[in-house]
Amino acid sequence: MTDLSQPVADAQPATAPGGVAPPLWLLAELTYRCPLHCAFCYNPVDYTGHNRELSTDEWLRVLREARALGAAQLGFSGGEPLMRDDLEVLVREARSLGFYTNLITSGIGLTDKRLGDLKAAGLDHIQLSFQDSTQELNDFLSSTRTFDLKQRVAASIKRHGFPMVLNCVLHRYNLPHVDKIIEMALAMGAEYLELANTQYYGWAHHNQAQLMPTREQLDEAEAVVERYRRTHGERCKIFFVVPDYFERRPKRCMNGWGAVFLGVAPDGAALPCHAARALPGLVLPNVKDTPLSDIWYESDAFNRFRGLQWMKEPCRSCEEKERDLGGCRCQAYLLTGDAANADPVCDKSPSHEKVVDVTRLAALAREPREQPIVFRNDANSRKLTAARAAPAAQAVDNLAHHAPDSAPNNGGPTGD
Ligand code: FES
Repeated sequence: MTDLSQPVADAQPATAPGGVAPPLWLLAELTYRCPLHCAFCYNPVDYTGHNRELSTDEWLRVLREARALGAAQLGFSGGEPLMRDDLEVLVREARSLGFYTNLITSGIGLTDKRLGDLKAAGLDHIQLSFQDSTQELNDFLSSTRTFDLKQRVAASIKRHGFPMVLNCVLHRYNLPHVDKIIEMALAMGAEYLELANTQYYGWAHHNQAQLMPTREQLDEAEAVVERYRRTHGERCKIFFVVPDYFERRPKRCMNGWGAVFLGVAPDGAALPCHAARALPGLVLPNVKDTPLSDIWYESDAFNRFRGLQWMKEPCRSCEEKERDLGGCRCQAYLLTGDAANADPVCDKSPSHEKVVDVTRLAALAREPREQPIVFRNDANSRKLTAARAAPAAQAVDNLAHHAPDSAPNNGGPTGD
């Protein structure tokens, strides 16, 4: 296994003239706090160990440095970014710096007052997540009773004149409802609908056996999407993000490591991709003590898998390597134990059979709800962290398979 704690001797010189382009997209993960408990959350399962948040001033500095570097798009995410009461201050600064801003939210806590304040602060766009078109499944998958509230929030977003993306993460539970989800988006007046098949990182990876769909489910859903695109494509642009476990070539993850994406976690850790925190040995620089420019151009973490020089076989000699850049580093680690291996989604990878096995098992699985889902919440995060630190199977067995509290949520802190 490649030891990520050791610097790479032949890493690309990031500051070489003409070598590395500046980041285009800053993702500000303002907090890991979240009123929902989604089973497919991409946040790290050990998020409770990283829950100290940057101050308002620190975030303002990050925004200024990122804009000076060249970043133009800014996503406010989390957790639930509305849990921060300085969100409006950050949006206002982002707007004055010239960012195009997007709020990525569950909608919980997005009151009329906050919508008005965010509009006045200059927020450009809102991405609202739903878990399903039915109250039953929406509330089950988030382990909260929030479906009705989200409906009201969607209407308020439109009333305030924001362009709206409706986002729904797809998996074996809700793929059969794709037509209803599209109808819901149309009824709400969403300009865009993102149907994003689950990517298996973080909590989704932990719940992979329960969430993985079958090939038939995907094919049927894609046919439905095509049908609606033909009839309603003018009113609502529908994106269908294909799950790469069913592909034979990997995705060009993040459009290349250290190429366009710069994430900052709630505690200030700088992330070359959303899931990089899961790569053991990769030392993530922190915006608290390192200028963003140094992080982007000089840090080992951002140079580690930049370009092509880090590749091992079969990627190194593959004629398609410039197209997919070796696929996803986090997936390579999760499935092979080595982030420098080829992404096993690729059928040239010696580990491709592992991906095939996962999809085969999904095809054999019976009713998914017979198996317990581990919901994202603080208690489960602490237990999973402990189980990983000391591989005590007992600790995993003890996991709470339901959120500790499924009471209606008004945007207050996670109730555990
Ligand atoms: Fe980390 Fe793909 S999610 S490189």
